[in-house]
Amino acid sequence: MQKNKGHQKVLILDFGGQYNQLIARRVREQKVYCDLLPYDISFEKIKEYAPIGIIFTGGPNSVYEEGAPRVDERVFELGVPVLGICYGCQLIAHELGGKVMHADTREYGKCEIEYSKDSLLFKDVSSRNVCWMSHTDYVSEVPAGFRITATTKTCPAAAFENSDKKIYGVQFHTEVHHTAEGEKILHNFLFDVCKADGDWTMSNFVAQQVENLREKLEGKKVLCALSGGVDSAVAAALIHRAAGDNLTCVFVDHGLLRKGEAEEVVSVFGEKLKMNLIKIDAKERFLSRLAGVSEPEKKRKIIGEEFIKVFEVEAKKIGAVDFLVQGTIYPDVIESGKGVSAVIKSHHNVGGLPSVVDFKEIIEPLRDLFKDEVRKVGTELGLPDTVVRRQPFPGPGLAIRIMGEVTEQKLKTLRDADFILREEIAKAGLDKEIWQYFAVITSTSTVGVMGDSRTYEPVIALRAVTSVDAMTADWAKIPYEVLEKISSRIINEVDHANRIVYDITSKPPATIEWE
Ligand code: XMP
Repeated sequence: MQKNKGHQKVLILDFGGQYNQLIARRVREQKVYCDLLPYDISFEKIKEYAPIGIIFTGGPNSVYEEGAPRVDERVFELGVPVLGICYGCQLIAHELGGKVMHADTREYGKCEIEYSKDSLLFKDVSSRNVCWMSHTDYVSEVPAGFRITATTKTCPAAAFENSDKKIYGVQFHTEVHHTAEGEKILHNFLFDVCKADGDWTMSNFVAQQVENLREKLEGKKVLCALSGGVDSAVAAALIHRAAGDNLTCVFVDHGLLRKGEAEEVVSVFGEKLKMNLIKIDAKERFLSRLAGVSEPEKKRKIIGEEFIKVFEVEAKKIGAVDFLVQGTIYPDVIESGKGVSAVIKSHHNVGGLPSVVDFKEIIEPLRDLFKDEVRKVGTELGLPDTVVRRQPFPGPGLAIRIMGEVTEQKLKTLRDADFILREEIAKAGLDKEIWQYFAVITSTSTVGVMGDSRTYEPVIALRAVTSVDAMTADWAKIPYEVLEKISSRIINEVDHANRIVYDITSKPPATIEWE
């Protein structure tokens, strides 16, 4: 874990609930730093962490099951405020002598709730309101010294507290938007109970990181692979601020990026930020390895391997370095399980780099940040919106958006069509609400007529999806007029385009990318 010396920190103990990352994000949104750590970290670690408050998350277990996750009771004696959410609240009741019961039916969804006006937790919250519930067990008796501060029709102790000991339990999910004023409740816990300062801002983060890194990187050689993606771009910009010319960035242009992207990397990082940037033009090399290859997995494999080979040659020229920069971000760390060990992103384009670079240590300046925070840091460091707001883009690039063999001509057609799609989506103001939007060249050719002549060209498909995490996605309901404009512009302005279709499948069953 990166040290955030000087910052107040909230410790979130993870009991395995589905909204746990969301709790951490909600705390960070209130400008309070927090970490999500496994519930079974030792009591010594908890003390050493020195939190200003502790949150227990929800989780799938029942407190009375054998082997159910528990917490060291001494946590309640630290004098540090505790907020238990859902399972976390049942755990408080269970550990401190209250009673938890199993209901016959699960309470799930929006639910009317009544709060006590005299609880600090519900300060300025309307006394009758709506909250989001998702539980079967419930607290039927609160521990001695506690009082009930909220009730619903089915839940006699929807919230309870011992304000002297600063221990609070809520059965509902404050972190979910369906809980009206959930943010305010969390705010009250953080600012009124934990006495947070709210000084976790991205400009403070940048200033502090740069100060820490300057010392660490002084006189050292640092190497970073730029992919054009948000994470590596922001990581490089941050390291650059601290290490200046000691940082060398290598950008391999595999010729499979979208229109204008390779040029943008050079213009932003080389010209504007004046970084030590080595651009390797490996277009020919990738295209010749891809010639005649149609099978998607084979294409992916070739590109991954080739990338490592190209990088290896450059790394040999650069020689030994002290640090290799990785754009790992917080969700990668949390998903790796324990939040303690470094993960190398599975993104195959950079995943293999450590094996070909002669380095002493990996440095991951963004490993404490969520994606939205990474974007803010990028803006803080002067990166343009086109870089920090960039859509997710697969490592193998346009090669997996061209069905079948990748050729120069298809690449050009795809780039031009994709550019028009992006331009029109932005003009229509839809770029913020659509998760990803791109064009695809299919492997089916159809007949068209242009002027007086017959044409026979591959169908171009447009794909646009809304999503929160790319695990599931819905096809975007782009207005017909916008689709019409995109279609007619592509047909009129792009060579080898004679038919456009729109993909109306969700994920699942389809994936976002076509290959
Ligand atoms: P699918 O197509 O599986 O994509 O629904 C989910 C998300 O992952 C992106 N994607 C990739 N990203 N390397 C990456 O870094 C890849 O090989 C790759 N393949 C798919 C895709 O764009 C979507 O956001």
